[in-house]
Amino acid sequence: MSADHQHFAVTKIRPEHVSELKGLLYRVWYLSYITALGQSLIDQLTSELHTIEKLTAELHNTQKASLGVFQTGKLIGHALTVRQPPETNYIGRLYVDPSYQRIGVGQALLNAAETAFDCRVATLEVFHSSNNAVRFYRRNGYVQIGRHRSAHAVPTELFDLQFSKTL
Ligand SMILES: CC(C)(COP(=O)(O)OP(=O)(O)OC[C@H]1O[C@@H](n2cnc3c(N)ncnc32)[C@H](O)[C@@H]1OP(=O)(O)O)[C@@H](O)C(=O)NCCC(=O)NCCS
Repeated sequence: MSADHQHFAVTKIRPEHVSELKGLLYRVWYLSYITALGQSLIDQLTSELHTIEKLTAELHNTQKASLGVFQTGKLIGHALTVRQPPETNYIGRLYVDPSYQRIGVGQALLNAAETAFDCRVATLEVFHSSNNAVRFYRRNGYVQIGRHRSAHAVPTELFDLQFSKTL
């Protein structure tokens, strides 16, 4: 991280933050994936993946770390990381409110996600069309290890890229 980046404290998401987290995920998904997925698929996937019940259950799972960055009490970024024994830390979500991107929030969350568990390897997946995220991960030392046609590649062609980094 360069010296001019702001410092953002990363904390664990608590149960009282879950409905705000659901809203953040919907907003960032909509703005990030509208071209790739379209409105109805975004609605379907977010309503399946980001239920209050699932987001709450993550907080009580010792193999998962649900992390957030807050500014003046507002949730502006989130990461979820999952410990996959024996040695992998799978970063399943990393989302920053578009109004707060490019000021170091994503970097703070990625650093915290990578160190949430004592693992040797971090892995993640990203859509090939998410150019900013792909560049961000490459700059952070992630190397592409796979490329698969996404299950959601309808009607637009879409690939999931798998990235890995030795910690
Ligand atoms: C990818 C994502 C998480 C990055 O979060 P972010 O908060 O914008 O990340 P940062 O601000 O730490 O860094 C982003 C870029 O801004 C630059 N930057 C950070 N602070 C800066 C500052 N003060 N001045 C100028 N540039 C800055 C970083 O160098 C970085 O550049 P790079 O992408 O070329 O490496 C965010 O863009 C996002 O949520 N995207 C949409 C959803 C998505 O695709 N998520 C990934 C799903 S797997």
